[in-house]
Amino acid sequence: MRLSNRVKAVSPSMTLAITAKIKELKAKGEPVINFGAGEPDLPTPDFVCKAGKEAIDRGLTRYTPATGLPQLKEAVCRRFERVNGLSYRLSQILVSCGAKHSLYNIIQTIVNPGDGVLLPVPYWVSYPEMIKLAGGKPVYVETREEDGFCLAPDRLEQAIKDNPSVRVLILNYPSNPTGAVYSKDRLIEIADVCKKYDLAVISDEIYDVLTYQGKHISFASLSEDTYKRTITINGVSKAYSMTGWRIGFAAGDEDVIKAAGSIQSHSTSNPTTISQYAAIAALNDGVDWESYMRDVYVKRANLLMDMFGRMRLARPFRPRGTFYAFVNISGYGLDSMSFASRMLDEIKVGVIPGVAFGADEWVRVSFAASKDDIVEGLKRWQEWEAGF
Ligand SMILES: Cc1ncc(COP(=O)(O)O)c(C=O)c1O
Repeated sequence: MRLSNRVKAVSPSMTLAITAKIKELKAKGEPVINFGAGEPDLPTPDFVCKAGKEAIDRGLTRYTPATGLPQLKEAVCRRFERVNGLSYRLSQILVSCGAKHSLYNIIQTIVNPGDGVLLPVPYWVSYPEMIKLAGGKPVYVETREEDGFCLAPDRLEQAIKDNPSVRVLILNYPSNPTGAVYSKDRLIEIADVCKKYDLAVISDEIYDVLTYQGKHISFASLSEDTYKRTITINGVSKAYSMTGWRIGFAAGDEDVIKAAGSIQSHSTSNPTTISQYAAIAALNDGVDWESYMRDVYVKRANLLMDMFGRMRLARPFRPRGTFYAFVNISGYGLDSMSFASRMLDEIKVGVIPGVAFGADEWVRVSFAASKDDIVEGLKRWQEWEAGF
């Protein structure tokens, strides 16, 4: 059967082959240490599961409004106030089937065919493909390790001058895959460039509470101007261990949210009703859970960095948030795909090759893994390193 031109432009996920292999080996009972996971290893908290079960028992299993329950939107607004210092009305909130779905709908809503969309590199795997599906053109802007993997305002401005078609900037911090976070000063500098060139901004802050030092600063909260030009993306997947429940949200300009809601109403309709009730519980009662989770991952990040410190060739960037460490592997003389394949074949340790994020000298090591797995995985890696 013939494929549409639209889908032909989309690349298959480069991480798929390696993650499928990790799962296959695990299923066969091989002693695989999986540092590939893009989700918390902690289970969904009990109080959240209970709210989901109660929704079923109370017969709350039918359609809701396509863009989400008003009670959930209220809980989303309260969380935006509490965590991000942002005030939104219910009409500025879209609840979707995961943050990925919110992002997809927003990109479809604000990107026209031919529009350039600025993307700091390394980037999360799905952004380029979502941009291409909307007919847009990803415009890559390199960030530097020395600069904490943060977008430099002069590079941003140069990319805009070189690509007059750009209309949108996508920011993501704490960043998947680097664990980078931004200082307020740097965000203000970026905001000035966005204002000068009248860019819309999509700020994906799904790891906001997993910031290790200081408080997360939302781009939209910087000024009246950034509030108006930013659509903020968030969700319950990472902060409340709810990846499988599929609830994410977007907040911002009322017209954009309304239009994105129209797209959603003709595709998925409402996100799963039961999950929406569980998400209300997570957002309303998850404050202690957020800090518990942050403490767990800070400890694991420290353990990982201690162990990497004893290695010769692996050179990690110290994560400032998320549950990922980005590790430079140029000392091994392999590209990231060969590195990840060999490591999985030879010592059964699974990592994600950086080529998937536009950074072929790096691999992403997820520490959403138990302490024992971190110790064992890094021990194997250290011994393996001796052969290089
Ligand atoms: C930066 C970033 N944005 C969005 C998502 C998607 O989250 P969700 O599971 O809510 O669709 C992920 C998940 O890996 C992510 O890392």
